[in-house]
Amino acid sequence: MFCGSERDGGEALRAVTHAANIRYDKAAEALCILDQSLLPNEVREVRLDTAEEMVEAIRALRVRGAPAIGICAAYGLYRLARTIEDPDPEVFQTQLRAFSAQLCAARPTAVNLAWALGEMENTAAAHAGAPRRVLLEALYEKAAAIHQDDIDKCRAISEYGLSLLREGDGVLTHCNAGPLATSRYGTAQGPFFLAAERGMRIRVFAGETRPLLQGARLTSYELHRAGVDVTLICDNMASMVMKNGWVQACFVGCDRVAANGDTANKIGTSSVAILAKHYGIPFYVLGPTSTIDRNCPSGDQIPIELRDPEEIKSLWYEKPVALPGVPCYNPAFDVTDHSLITAIVTEKGICRAPYTESLLF
Ligand code: MRU
Repeated sequence: MFCGSERDGGEALRAVTHAANIRYDKAAEALCILDQSLLPNEVREVRLDTAEEMVEAIRALRVRGAPAIGICAAYGLYRLARTIEDPDPEVFQTQLRAFSAQLCAARPTAVNLAWALGEMENTAAAHAGAPRRVLLEALYEKAAAIHQDDIDKCRAISEYGLSLLREGDGVLTHCNAGPLATSRYGTAQGPFFLAAERGMRIRVFAGETRPLLQGARLTSYELHRAGVDVTLICDNMASMVMKNGWVQACFVGCDRVAANGDTANKIGTSSVAILAKHYGIPFYVLGPTSTIDRNCPSGDQIPIELRDPEEIKSLWYEKPVALPGVPCYNPAFDVTDHSLITAIVTEKGICRAPYTESLLF
């Protein structure tokens, strides 16, 4: 089904940019997420009540994308705080920190997870002497503020990102950094939705993103449904589309940006950056300042998640594509050296090298 924004007055576009990937139902005290692992074949919301369910959902990429896992964990910690019944404030704080550590351990690379949980822990500590009802309310307000803050930041990042593009440009993107991975417009894919809203013609090339196919399953799904001109390519086709002159810029998201600008993002991102340098194409990283890790001097200190080799051998849905005993190396992220990055776009503006100065304002 084609849902072009021109044909329906922008409704399809809005349905994508305003979809509720994470929703906290206050009346039911229920944390609900859109299960991204089922897309694009099935749209199903699932409810997460326990710490185990939340950790499983983050690990299995039911909820994924650096900002989205931070938002989910923030609401999740509030939800879990409600289950702490011990009246002793010290016990409450201890149990809350234990839940926070459990959620934080779900995935190591995206710093937004630890960042959002740290914000929640600080809020709890600041209300340590308050009655339980007041403390819980403060935690809910904080989670909702983290969510709203991401909506605002994504919009600002999208505006700055769009200012780097011209009518008719082709842009290559990798993985998924759109509404599903964030809230509303997204980061690296946000400018494409804004361009569509404004009738500006941009052609997007979305790398399929092996092994878990976030580009195929999620990015092309979101962009196509919104009426954005998107062409899905296999990751190994990037060089060819660049050589053909079809790409004027690369836009990617980020999971953790070190103080020197080295950037961890989905595995394969650094290959795109190296190709872009070869062809003289600008390579931009887009992400909120909550993805900058000031305590991490360079990419060498960023923990890279290693995932189950079966993900390589079984594709996403289908039969195995390799013998069961074949050893596999399956890192989920790689680090792009800051020297390959033309600029890092945050909600505060467009930061250029030296990043040790421009990022750490
Ligand atoms: O393993 P994933 O799907 O969570 O990886 C996501 C990415 O690498 C995104 O590009 C990144 O989190 C930025 S999302 C705005």
